[in-house]
Amino acid sequence: MSAARAAALLLIGGALAVAAAAGRPAGAPQSQPAYPAKLAAGEGSELAESHCLMCHSAMLIAQQAKDSTGWEKTIALMEKWSAPLDSTSHRALHRYLLRSYGPRH
Ligand code: HEC
Repeated sequence: MSAARAAALLLIGGALAVAAAAGRPAGAPQSQPAYPAKLAAGEGSELAESHCLMCHSAMLIAQQAKDSTGWEKTIALMEKWSAPLDSTSHRALHRYLLRSYGPRH
């Protein structure tokens, strides 16, 4: 990473921290877990980035905890809404989503 890029990222990070602090009501807990804005790394993540983020943010995916049937339904719905997936990508994405955003216990 170049120094300029690192500096830019630091700037963005700082701006986000300020925005987050400003949006918080006084007295609210300071360490609420936020949903990650990026998809989890791992096999299938690039497929998800290229096929699932053209209509909405990663946060909509990252805040879910679905079982196998739940993800199957969601992927089918996104396909109906024209997410461009062939059957190989469909299966790979299903594996990725279940592994990364499976049911919480
Ligand atoms: C063609 C546009 C489009 C694409 C491509 C798309 N989505 Fe969506 N998705 C939507 C819309 C529209 C909603 C509803 C948004 C809302 O409720 O605010 C949605 C909602 C969701 C939700 C929340 C609702 C639910 O069923 O849990 C999840 C999770 C989701 N999408 C995952 C995905 C995944 C995974 C992919 C890649 C396979 C994907 N989306 C690709 C349009 C799309």
